[in-house]
Order: sequence, then structure tokens, then C-alpha cells
Amino acid sequence: MRAVIPVAGVGTRLRPHTYSLPKVLLNVAGKPILAHIMDAIIEQGITKATIITGYMRKNVESFVKERYSIEVDFVPQKESLGLGHAIWTGRDTFGDEPLMIILGDTVFDVDLKLAEKSGISSIGVKKVDDPRRFGVVVKNKEGIITKFVEKPQKFVSDLAIVGLYYIANPQLLKQSLEQIIKNDIQTSGEYQLTDALQLMLEKGERFSTFPVEGWFDCGKPETLLSTNRHLLNKLNHFPSPNGCVIVPPVFIAPDATIKCSIIGPYATVATGATVEDSIIRDTIISDGAKVSSSLLEESIIGNNAHVKGNFIKMNVGNSSEINY
Ligand code: G1P
Repeated sequence: MRAVIPVAGVGTRLRPHTYSLPKVLLNVAGKPILAHIMDAIIEQGITKATIITGYMRKNVESFVKERYSIEVDFVPQKESLGLGHAIWTGRDTFGDEPLMIILGDTVFDVDLKLAEKSGISSIGVKKVDDPRRFGVVVKNKEGIITKFVEKPQKFVSDLAIVGLYYIANPQLLKQSLEQIIKNDIQTSGEYQLTDALQLMLEKGERFSTFPVEGWFDCGKPETLLSTNRHLLNKLNHFPSPNGCVIVPPVFIAPDATIKCSIIGPYATVATGATVEDSIIRDTIISDGAKVSSSLLEESIIGNNAHVKGNFIKMNVGNSSEINY
């Protein structure tokens, strides 16, 4: 099986972090989003991947090349014309072996073997409250997909496509993508993967679904922080370094320096970071960042950023009330 991971997006909602790093290299629970995806696919025995790059592609390439030894083809997407176009860009790397398409802005907690179980193409789905924001599938009584619709404005189903697609017939996917691009079939101004899946269905491909309960978006600061919280919940206890109090769950890299601080709950302190005289909770402190004399919550501190607060001096009379 080959993994196909589109990571070309600019990540505008995560600015200013994405001015200097591609979204997939932002840290969550101690490692970049892309590392969570790569580690998961390797753990599931996948040894080949196609990564569709775009924004800051050199950073993505060097990160993957330095850290992983599996066979990875990097294919640049020159124009942002939609997810269908992104996958089509990687077509020359597809052979006859099945594909697992994994969208690059999400961390999943799912056994990918579930996807292969039915022996036919299978789409990761989850019930959602507002299906208008997603691609959705309609299923028949036997659990076979009868229709794919991208961002339906009228209700057809609340089973959203979460961004994990097991494609048993990559050559038919390639043909269908080619067809939507040649015939300029767009939905919401983009070439959609969902539309290509609908064409595959019309050409006779059978699709089942597999449930994905653990589906964690990393697309904006609030969701990056909630994914951080979720992933930290699964980590082991970290011992308290001298003079510090650790309130689990936290991730503290072995080479991070922590002094006279209270860390957690839900704090990530990444590799090479330093925290001194601070209280840090629900916060991601990225590689090499330095934080001192600060109270931080719901914060994301970028790589090598410095945040220095101050202890303040007060001379406050009896019965005063001060909020600052
Ligand atoms: C894309 C897909 C959509 C899917 C969603 C999952 O949409 O086109 O079918 O439901 O990812 O996150 P986007 O989020 O890029 O608008």
C-alpha cells in the first residue's frame, strides 16, 4: 500500500506561525503534525509514500528526508486548484497497489487496517452535526456507498468524509481525476476528490466505509490546541524536574530546560525549549523557544521565539482590589 499525503496548503488560519513554517510542521504534543501522520503509517506497515507539496515545500522535504528512511516521492503542486487536483498531481507515482490518501492537516487515531478489511475501496467517515462543511457519503442498507456529495447545501447525509481514503483501484482513480480536470468539472471553484470518487462509483467501483472516531483537526489555533490536549491525554507521566511542578498531562522533550515553573495541564514543551519562572498550561512551546517569568494559557509559541515577562513590584494598601 502507498500513502498519499497532500500537504500543499498555505495554512492562512494559523498565521503568524505559517509565515515561517508550513502548517504540517507545526508542533502538536511534542512533534510536527506530519510526524504524527508519518509515524502512524510506518507503524501500520506502509513503506511507500507520495507527499504532494506546495507552500514551503523545501522545509517539508528536508524534514521528511532527515527523519524517515521509507521511500517517499515528493511531487510539487504548482497551482492550488483543489484536493482532486493535488491528488492528480501525484498520479505518476501510483501503480496498481492500493492507496491510502491521508489529508495532511489532521491527526487521526484509527487502525488503518480497518480500511482494508472489507477488501474493497473504503472511506473513513464520522457523523457530524453540520455536514455542509464536509464531503459526505450516502450508504445503502448493506453499508455500500451509493453517492458522494461535496459540501451539500441541502441535507443528503450526516456521514462526513474525514480525510482518510483507501483506494483499491488507483488506476480508476487516476482516470476519474483526469476526467474531472479535462472536462473542467469543478465544485465550489475547485477540482474535488469527492467528485472523482463519485465518477469512480458511476464506473462501477464499490466503496464501503470505516468509522473514524479519533479525528483531530489542526487547521486553526483553537483546534491545534484541542488536538494537543487530546494527544497529551494519552502520554505517560513525566517526572518533575527540580524546583518544578508538573501537572499532567504534559509533553516535555528530554532536552528541554525547565526551571522553577509549573507546567501543565496540557502543555507541550518541545525540543530545545526553555521555560523558567513561569506557569504554562494549555499551551504549545515549540522547538528552541524561550519563555521566562510568564503566565501562559491557550498560547502557541513558535520555534525559537522568546517571551519574557516581568515580575512586578507592588506596594498595595490594605483592602485594595487589583486586577491586571
Ligand atoms: C476536504 C474534502 C472534504 C472532506 C474534508 C475533511 O475539504 O474536500 O470532502 O470532508 O476535507 O476535512 P476541505 O476541508 O479541504 O474544505
